[in-house]
Amino acid sequence: MVQRERARLGGGEKRIASQHRKGKLTARERIDLLLDDGSFEEYDMFVTHRCHDFGLEQEQYLGDGVVTGRGTIDGRVVYVFAQDFTVFGGSLSETYAQKICKIMDQALKVGAPIIGLNDSGGARIQEGVRSLAGYAEIFYRNIAASGVVPQISGVFGPCAGGAVYSPALTDFVVMTEKTSYMFVTGPKVTQTVTGEEITTEDLGGAEVHTSKSGVAHFRAAGEEEGILLIRKLLEYLPQNNLEDPIATECKDPIDRVDDELNELVPTDPNKPYDVKDIIFRLVDQEEFLELQRHWAKNIVVGFAKFGGMPCGIVANQPSFLAGTLDINASRKAARFVRFCDAFNIPILTLVDVPGFLPGSFQEYSGIISHGAKLLYAYGEATVPKITITLRKAYGGAHDVMGSKQLRADINYAWPTAEIAVMGAQGAIEILEAKTLASVEDPAEREQLRQTKKEEYREKFANPYEAARYGYLDDVIEPRSTRWRIVRALRALATKKDLLPPKKHGNIPL
Ligand code: HXC
Repeated sequence: MVQRERARLGGGEKRIASQHRKGKLTARERIDLLLDDGSFEEYDMFVTHRCHDFGLEQEQYLGDGVVTGRGTIDGRVVYVFAQDFTVFGGSLSETYAQKICKIMDQALKVGAPIIGLNDSGGARIQEGVRSLAGYAEIFYRNIAASGVVPQISGVFGPCAGGAVYSPALTDFVVMTEKTSYMFVTGPKVTQTVTGEEITTEDLGGAEVHTSKSGVAHFRAAGEEEGILLIRKLLEYLPQNNLEDPIATECKDPIDRVDDELNELVPTDPNKPYDVKDIIFRLVDQEEFLELQRHWAKNIVVGFAKFGGMPCGIVANQPSFLAGTLDINASRKAARFVRFCDAFNIPILTLVDVPGFLPGSFQEYSGIISHGAKLLYAYGEATVPKITITLRKAYGGAHDVMGSKQLRADINYAWPTAEIAVMGAQGAIEILEAKTLASVEDPAEREQLRQTKKEEYREKFANPYEAARYGYLDDVIEPRSTRWRIVRALRALATKKDLLPPKKHGNIPL
């Protein structure tokens, strides 16, 4: 058999069949699905390991358990590695790590995204510290590439121990249901150390990481779907931090007016609605690629296009936890804002936030530091920032969510907006406490409370107070919002802004 054919068989037909029985594709099948037809150029197909311990010198596989190379997605160059579970369970050796590092180094030099498809038993046990060193070499490159080229991880099988940290360092993680898992410590060790009995799926399956931990951004029903998601995601991203995301032809009229938008937001500030109904109406062709949609649902983040121009969207979600900002929502949005800023993607913020989620759990868990992350991310971002206040924007949360003072470029509000230190109810209980207490008759007291609330709402619960100070640039009609956003993005496309020179800031991590 010629060498090339041998290499393509990885660990052999039996192991390929076993991989398929588990409902998984092989490394090469994954690459074929991911890249444009015929575009894959493989590197290091004939590399073998150099281990002479545990009789491993007798067991050699060309390529050594990882397929690496470059190809194109929609005609744009990407670098890719796919771990091959059919060779030593996809475990990582010294030479295997060198193969991955080689393509990462080249991706960084040419400025192209790196996509890693993970399916591995972790460090190749027979190679000991050389394998650990190999991991660290990859981690170092993940860090060096962060903010320079987009990095995307597909986790399509096991990913355990320290191996989880390479995907964790990348920008986006896609997991498949049932076949993938990620954890630092597996169920057996967990039980030995803590006594907790738990299954692999419950400890680190796709559902856990997309709904409980927030480690993964997408949960796919199968590998085909996972790979399609990776391809889709790239449509919104530039090749590297020196380029802008690519604008495409837009078939959706940019000046499309949507009368129903005028009615979508209930005027009662306590009434929930789904902010995604608004997002879908504003964006091109109702296409919105939402990230982490099962986790921290009180904030919505994702990519869309306006007039063909890619844009990141951050929106409070009044239908979940009343759209409050809590720790997870702050972390989710902060990381997203920073990603957009690193890769020149403008940020549209849709605000309807009653404040931070109160309670001892949040305070003890550090909502102060976590909330500050989002504040920091917005303040630091120099990409075009457009903020539209749909309804409530109370207190510190108003400042955080892309306020003018955090250098948003364009701040609009809908007529339903209420920008104030707090809602009418809370404000009146504080401001009028003594007056209310002095009224003995309960009915009369309630009447007075309502009157005071009305007065407060009249003064503060509208956008015009903020507009008077220039904190808002305009109060706009909801129905024409799409057109206003497109025009704003066009005007801001050439924006240049710089922060004071520094090595790096000290974001409250
Ligand atoms: C060498 C390995 C291996 C490993 C699996 N294999 N993991 N070889 N080093 N880490 C081999 C198996 O011996 C087997 O070889 C083949 O791969 C397939 O493995 P199976 O066990 O038959 O597959 P499966 O039943 O699907 O189980 C998959 C698995 C299990 C759950 C991943 O293999 C497993 O638990 N492996 C060990 C995982 C682990 O503890 N790794 C080290 C973690 S610590 P044959 O020849 O029989 O086909 C770590 C630290 C990283 O990774 C630190 C970074 C800083």
